[in-house]
Amino acid sequence: MTDIGRRGFLVRTGLALGATILASACHRVFADQQSPRWRFKNWDDLRAQFPLAPQLIHLAAFFLASHPTPVREAIERHRAGLDADPLGYWLEHEEKQEAKVLRAAADYLGAHPTDIALTDSTTMGLGLLYSGLKLRSRQEILTTTHDHYSTETALRLRAERTGATVRQIPLYRSLKTLSRDELVDSLQKNITSATRVVAVTWVHSSTGLKLPIQDMALAIQTMNRSRDEQDRVIFCVDGVHALGVEDFRVRELGCDFLVAGTHKWMFGPRGTGLVWGHPQAWPIAQATIPTFNSQAYDLWMENKSSTDLPQSIHMTPGGFHSFEHRWALDEAFAFHQAIGKSKVTQRIYELSQQLKQGLAAMPHVALHTPLSQDLSAGIVCFEVAGLTSRAVVDTLRQRGIVGSVTPYTTKYARLAPSLLNSPVEIEKTLEEIRNLRAS
Ligand SMILES: Cc1ncc(COP(=O)(O)O)c(C=O)c1O
Repeated sequence: MTDIGRRGFLVRTGLALGATILASACHRVFADQQSPRWRFKNWDDLRAQFPLAPQLIHLAAFFLASHPTPVREAIERHRAGLDADPLGYWLEHEEKQEAKVLRAAADYLGAHPTDIALTDSTTMGLGLLYSGLKLRSRQEILTTTHDHYSTETALRLRAERTGATVRQIPLYRSLKTLSRDELVDSLQKNITSATRVVAVTWVHSSTGLKLPIQDMALAIQTMNRSRDEQDRVIFCVDGVHALGVEDFRVRELGCDFLVAGTHKWMFGPRGTGLVWGHPQAWPIAQATIPTFNSQAYDLWMENKSSTDLPQSIHMTPGGFHSFEHRWALDEAFAFHQAIGKSKVTQRIYELSQQLKQGLAAMPHVALHTPLSQDLSAGIVCFEVAGLTSRAVVDTLRQRGIVGSVTPYTTKYARLAPSLLNSPVEIEKTLEEIRNLRAS
């Protein structure tokens, strides 16, 4: 039986997971693989890196990160340096610290540093990318009805400003019956000769549905074989709820652009994010905000063109930033690497599977997130009969469980188990939901 299967079995049979079993499993999890700087003996030890209120069960960590110790310490170090001598500290650190962050991000993503632009959030990345994609007349952007406010609004603003055509399609009829094939087929059959850009979200924060991005990318690549370079479909993905959850190497994913904040599942400094672009795709992106990259700025001062610099540099917006946050981002990647990407995924899958199976077994609960791990990641959405989702989330909060309501037209209660949680916490949460009743 797989670990995930075993967890489901334990939950279904109502066996409580003893702390001793967990502790020994945790010791196994963290054996031999960590960088000497950050050694976590077990999951409790990992959780102790976060100054989170201990009396709460935090099931909304994907909303905005709490900074773990290495990230917090790096922020404090840079803040002290900048406060003591803003110009001197900046001159000494800007170039090398940004390079360090890019190397850490590239190492984590399985990418090259020059293919990554640094941003302040997913929204900034989406806004910059979608506002600047070069489109010829009659070329359209194809997107879905399931995307987040940030994708939808970035595309709407683009359409309003430039007259670009943005077409929205649903990818499935019902969450209850959808399949991987239906999702890929719906996308494929809606791509026309006019489609230049496809804009989707990897893990939907409205339902917890995870799209089969790799299969979609393969379908697009197949279609692209018979297209000229200037008509190639460019596949753009909002990956914020996959980064720090899914175990992937971005070059193997098959998309052209991956946009994500690093201040959610990655536990990076608040106000950080990135855009990764495939080297073949970067030329289609056009910057809107002047970069402050030192090479670009130096070339400007010498009256020379900077067009030969990698496009990722131009897509890293300038102006000064909250540098103490930006320069601490490498620590978040190192933190995840110290645990191991596959262990991160396995842990989040186990906990979300425990939560979903527990909810699915409750007659008064409608689980909306697919049970299959193939079609879901860490976000779990549900409703309780007779109660509004706001009432469910508020009641849970009163009982020390932090969740959120999906910020979409359709509102579900949403809980997202993460590395901050334990199976015992998930069981306590299920117990509270079991007792929720309309009065
Ligand atoms: C799918 C999705 N994309 C983008 C965002 C916005 O992310 P950020 O705060 O990094 O801009 C969110 C939620 O905040 C989201 O759920």
